[in-house]
Amino acid sequence: RDLFWKLNEGEVPQFNTHPDKLEELAQKKLSQNGWLYASSNAGLSHTHLANRQAFFRHKLLPRQLVDTNERSTRTTIFGHSVSAPIGIAPIGINKIYHQHGELAVARAAGELGIPYSLSTAGSYPIEDVAAANDSGRARRGEKVPVGARFFQLYMPHDDELTISLLKRAHESGYDACILTTDTPQLGWRHDDVATSNYAFYRGIGADLGLTDPVFQKRMRAEGIDPKKDPERAGAMWIDAIWHGRAWGWEKAVWARDRWREIAGDKPFLIKGIQRVDDAQKAADLGFDGIVVSNHAGRQVDGAIGSLDALEKIVKSGVGERLVITFDSGVRGAADVVKAIALGAKFVFIGRLWIWGLAIMGEDGVRHVLRGLLADLDILMNVSGINRIDDIGPEFLESTVPAY
Ligand code: FNR
Repeated sequence: RDLFWKLNEGEVPQFNTHPDKLEELAQKKLSQNGWLYASSNAGLSHTHLANRQAFFRHKLLPRQLVDTNERSTRTTIFGHSVSAPIGIAPIGINKIYHQHGELAVARAAGELGIPYSLSTAGSYPIEDVAAANDSGRARRGEKVPVGARFFQLYMPHDDELTISLLKRAHESGYDACILTTDTPQLGWRHDDVATSNYAFYRGIGADLGLTDPVFQKRMRAEGIDPKKDPERAGAMWIDAIWHGRAWGWEKAVWARDRWREIAGDKPFLIKGIQRVDDAQKAADLGFDGIVVSNHAGRQVDGAIGSLDALEKIVKSGVGERLVITFDSGVRGAADVVKAIALGAKFVFIGRLWIWGLAIMGEDGVRHVLRGLLADLDILMNVSGINRIDDIGPEFLESTVPAY
């Protein structure tokens, strides 16, 4: 509990961690483009709302008079000991939020034993983010679990480039690959479109790829020197990952098999699963896990709330064959517990940490995460829960459409 925000010892909060307040504070700090990139949803935000509504339909059933004095938020994911079943979801172009971008987030997560995920649309090189994550881990002494580090892949239409990215991720100590399948291109987001944010992304430096030797070869072939012409180089990278050309299961299996050649038995997950048949297919094809996710409601407006999708997928029994993880709409520890009670093994958060990064850089991310850990610890104490593994359906009352 050393990691958590020390409520009982009178630690002074750096800022209010209520998600609505975080959003307000972040909006004040960000440029208009940055704010709209982070906050915009697909279409009319119906899926964004559905994500929240799904949580309202499930209520917790706190248990009384349980000795929880030895409780722990710790758990494991793919064999890695972690501080909580909560991870950093991959989010692109973190330089938009703070100059230290991914480095700040990776350090804070490393320090707290919280798994970190790096996006292919990141703004710092794969190796530098790994080093920042390690330096965060080195800070915390022996008491804290090791954590884990994941690399999120947006599939380029350039196999040599994909292989190069996977090699770099493996060699710099990423423990798993998460292939995002819901975003061959960005969804129709009115605010982004209205403010020409596409041009903004291209200029801002989702620079992760610019350090890749294969991509450097491609840039040279186009006559682009990223030092002299960073905007064109950035635009070329954006086009490499959000190219708009769809691909199928064979390609996902191909990437997984390359990952296995490169990284041995490190897991390979599919992120963006919302249907039972897709979850079953992922299991049939031997993927290690899925992230049930609708990308925070940013891709398909009108899509099912992510927690509702999770419930259906868990009920199908596919969790016997692969690891089910979850994201989209988590705003506090109660949401984490609800997702786990429904059957998720692990939960990722996105916008919560983005706001922390925007508000106060690395300190801001740390503050949000420590708050979330304290929230989870307290929630377990007042709900009679000792272990993450003890959280099951008996803690949930659902007033839901019966899937
Ligand atoms: C995302 N997400 C995302 N996912 C991914 O696989 N690669 C990426 O680069 C991004 N980028 C990104 C940017 C922004 C601004 C947002 C809000 C989201 C999706 C992300 O990983 C995750 O699925 C959601 O953010 C989870 O929902 P919450 O926690 O933000 O509600």
